[in-house]
Amino acid sequence: PLVSSTPLLEAARAGGYGVGAFNVHTLEMLQAVVEAAEETKSPLILQSTVGTVRHLGPDYLAAAATAAADRSSVPIALHLDHCTDFTMIVQCIRAGYTSVMIDASMHPFEDNVRQTQKVVEIARAAGVNVEAELGKVGGVEDDIVVAEHEALMADPDECAAFVERTGVHTLAPAIGTAHGIYKGEPRIDFDRIRRIAGTVSVPLVLHGGSGIPEEQVKQCIGLGMSKMNVATEIRIVFSDAIKAVFAANPGENDPRAYMVPAKQAVKAAAAEKMRMLGAIGRA
Ligand code: 13P
Ligand code: ZN
Ligand code: NA
Repeated sequence: PLVSSTPLLEAARAGGYGVGAFNVHTLEMLQAVVEAAEETKSPLILQSTVGTVRHLGPDYLAAAATAAADRSSVPIALHLDHCTDFTMIVQCIRAGYTSVMIDASMHPFEDNVRQTQKVVEIARAAGVNVEAELGKVGGVEDDIVVAEHEALMADPDECAAFVERTGVHTLAPAIGTAHGIYKGEPRIDFDRIRRIAGTVSVPLVLHGGSGIPEEQVKQCIGLGMSKMNVATEIRIVFSDAIKAVFAANPGENDPRAYMVPAKQAVKAAAAEKMRMLGAIGRA
């Protein structure tokens, strides 16, 4: 069965490594990251965006993730990424999601606290992990768009007060990374991570995982972040592999002919992130 992401992330925090959390949009993408986790013996968090839940249905996603978890030797959680909609959170929990993110980071602090408290209360009864965001992660993630000048770093004292008041299980503080591929390198505020990790006892989540150089990923994990979200990079390798098949053979009409290489590409990219995070052999 699917497991809650809470024990996976607490083990990662205690062990000084990170768990890869991958946004999947198709059955093949889901299978690809599961195979990468299985072959490298890494714990895994499967994620879907709100847009993909609308596209495929929470029941199909939960059924596919459950099938993967049931035949897998590594622990797998299923997480709803960046959700602003309370109703969808409830629908996903009812469908079998074991982890959800309430993203009220675009609202004032007190509203963020209230919305997160409400989700923690219902999730607790279901044994489901809750993630929330403080500050604003820049870039584009599905229908959440934050321009560079609107991005906002999380305040360490607010992080401590937020966790205390909400009882949230995991916290995503904005620390300088962004969704999408960076122009140049991300400007990560490592000292801020250190301060937040020093005042907050719950596992911290690194958003914007695509395009962060390996050294910086390792620093973030070393300073106390325990989960890294990856979306854009695996979408790109998946799509590029399909484009390559059609470039070579425009008449191709067997979905397996382009899905198999696309799946292989995602699997390799995911395994590479698991290695960077120090997750290999931890499951
Ligand atoms: P990237 O698209 O940069 O990998 O960010 C992923 C993410 O943070 C999903 O929540
Ligand atoms: Zn994100
Ligand atoms: Na990114």
